[in-house]
Amino acid sequence: METRPFRSVLYIPGSKERALDKATSLPADAIIFDLEDAVAIDEKARARALLAETLQGSDYGQRAKLVRINALSTEWGAHDVNVIAQARPEAILLPKVETAADVEALARLLDARPETAETRIWTMIESPLGALNALEIGRAPRMAGFVMGTNDLAKDMHCRFRADRLPLLAALQIPLLAAKACGLVAVDGVYNAFRDVEGLRAECAQGRDMGFDGKTLIHPAQLDVANEVFAPAPEDITLARRQIEAFDAATARGEGVAVVDGKIVENLHIVTAKQILAKAEAIAQMSE
Ligand code: COA
Ligand code: MG
Repeated sequence: METRPFRSVLYIPGSKERALDKATSLPADAIIFDLEDAVAIDEKARARALLAETLQGSDYGQRAKLVRINALSTEWGAHDVNVIAQARPEAILLPKVETAADVEALARLLDARPETAETRIWTMIESPLGALNALEIGRAPRMAGFVMGTNDLAKDMHCRFRADRLPLLAALQIPLLAAKACGLVAVDGVYNAFRDVEGLRAECAQGRDMGFDGKTLIHPAQLDVANEVFAPAPEDITLARRQIEAFDAATARGEGVAVVDGKIVENLHIVTAKQILAKAEAIAQMSE
């Protein structure tokens, strides 16, 4: 399991200099520098050059840096890889992925360049076929994470937006299962109404409860809510510590099960408790 936090994953259009600059001080765990849908066609070349320069010249600290390139089937995709490779982002986020072959094609381009020897691949899961093929995509070379593209998914499924996201649940959960099976990070889709903080909070909580690591965000006003909801709550941390203590005491007595607050605590609960503490620790380091 990945302990590095991905609670808040902020999209920044690669063409917006001011936003690129601002992000060096925003409390995001990760940034997706976008060359794809947030950049107009006429701006593609300028954004690519600006982003390569910015990534090499600016200090984004501990924030994970992902670059969303255009699909390799477009006229921009391969060129994006060539220019962005020089900036050594830790991951390239590939959009519109539907099969493992899509990932393999990008992996071959990265294999051909020494600068990208360590670069990981994340993919957008944003179509019915992509969601259904999430397991083969997750098993492809260099794979490290999925980002749910819920707007594209809803468009292709002809489903409606509902606060409970019932129409999208299978499309979210199949990739989530695949992510967990493959040991990948999984980040939930965006909440479009970026001034609606309470709506965002509810959707973050739903994604967290399902098992997502965090949420993709479109505006700085969304950062605090995602950081809070996807972090272990103080009471989760206290409970985790108490469970570990009680279990250690039980083990010392030669017993394999402890009881905390009237609930059994077995070894598997201790695995979760330790993950919660490791995540809290990683988050504390992020804000140092
Ligand atoms: N990342 C970093 N900074 C951002 C930002 C982002 N995604 N969105 C806005 N900001 C900055 C603005 O530059 C502005 O900074 P300033 O006060 O220093 O000038 C500040 O936050 C306030 O912005 P605001 O005026 O409230 O927003 P806006 O009307 O300029 O832009 C959006 C609204 C939605 C167009 C903009 O937030 C955006 O482009 N979001 C990203 C969209 C995207 O990437 N989509 C692709 C994936 S779905
Ligand atoms: Mg999309």
